[in-house]
Amino acid sequence: MNRKIKSPVIIAVCGKGGVGKTSISALLTRMLTEKNSNRVIAIDADPAIGLSYPLGIKVTKTVDDIRNDLIRRIERGEKTDKKELLKRLDYEIFEALKERNNLAFLAIGRPETDGCYCQVNNLLRDIIREIAGNFDFVIIDGEAGVEQINRRVMEMVTHLLLVTDASAKGRNVAATIERVARENSSFEHTGLFFNRMRDKNEVKSLQAQTDLSVIGWMLENDLIRNFDREGKCFFDLPDDNAIEFPQKKIKDFIQI
Ligand SMILES: Nc1ncnc2c1ncn2[C@@H]1O[C@H](COP(=O)(O)OP(=O)(O)O)[C@@H](O)[C@H]1O
Ligand SMILES: [Mg+2]
Repeated sequence: MNRKIKSPVIIAVCGKGGVGKTSISALLTRMLTEKNSNRVIAIDADPAIGLSYPLGIKVTKTVDDIRNDLIRRIERGEKTDKKELLKRLDYEIFEALKERNNLAFLAIGRPETDGCYCQVNNLLRDIIREIAGNFDFVIIDGEAGVEQINRRVMEMVTHLLLVTDASAKGRNVAATIERVARENSSFEHTGLFFNRMRDKNEVKSLQAQTDLSVIGWMLENDLIRNFDREGKCFFDLPDDNAIEFPQKKIKDFIQI
């Protein structure tokens, strides 16, 4: 891999479970990879590993598989020379990284537990940070909970894309994540995206009820629903204005 140091745009897609984070992450990935010169990495930070489906990528190993394996080896009393450890982890993570054209994909696996393995966790964060430096865009499909915000991988995020459906629960989760994020991190940009809207009137009425900056919306869409039902790759979605329009709004949010 061609290693160069720069600051990528790092977008974290967060919100309540089921609101459409994975779908939006996949659409965003598709949009960003359309330009061949963009190097894009999608990181699936949801333990359920859902993003691989709409991206049409098969996961063989997650970061946590590697971490757990390493911890087992340490517990068995294997030598843990830091330099050697770093080399080994680096190699294994690059092996877990799936690549297709200008897209790379990495699945984190189940959530980190810090335990007393800070050294391993710190090494992993450093490696992910280093990997991110090779890309122009990093898309993190976050897990549902607010605790996501505290995870180490999130420290580098530049854009927080909050997704909600029409439900009060979804909107509350988005507001809570935004508050926790504001208190703990320094995101450059935060935006709210309304997904699965019934019509424009619903968008208007929900928009009036939030203090967050609304970046766009997508209507309930049968293409998305059917592609997801069949586990089909979103890169094969036909041109459709109902999808192009929300994509453009997200594009404006990340200013490209
Ligand atoms: N705009 C939409 N129109 C129709 N169905 C949608 C839309 N967005 C998401 N879905 C469906 O909602 C379900 C949950 O979406 P998903 O992206 O997996 O949510 P999350 O990652 O937030 O849990 C999926 O079955 C998906 O197909
Ligand atoms: Mg998901």
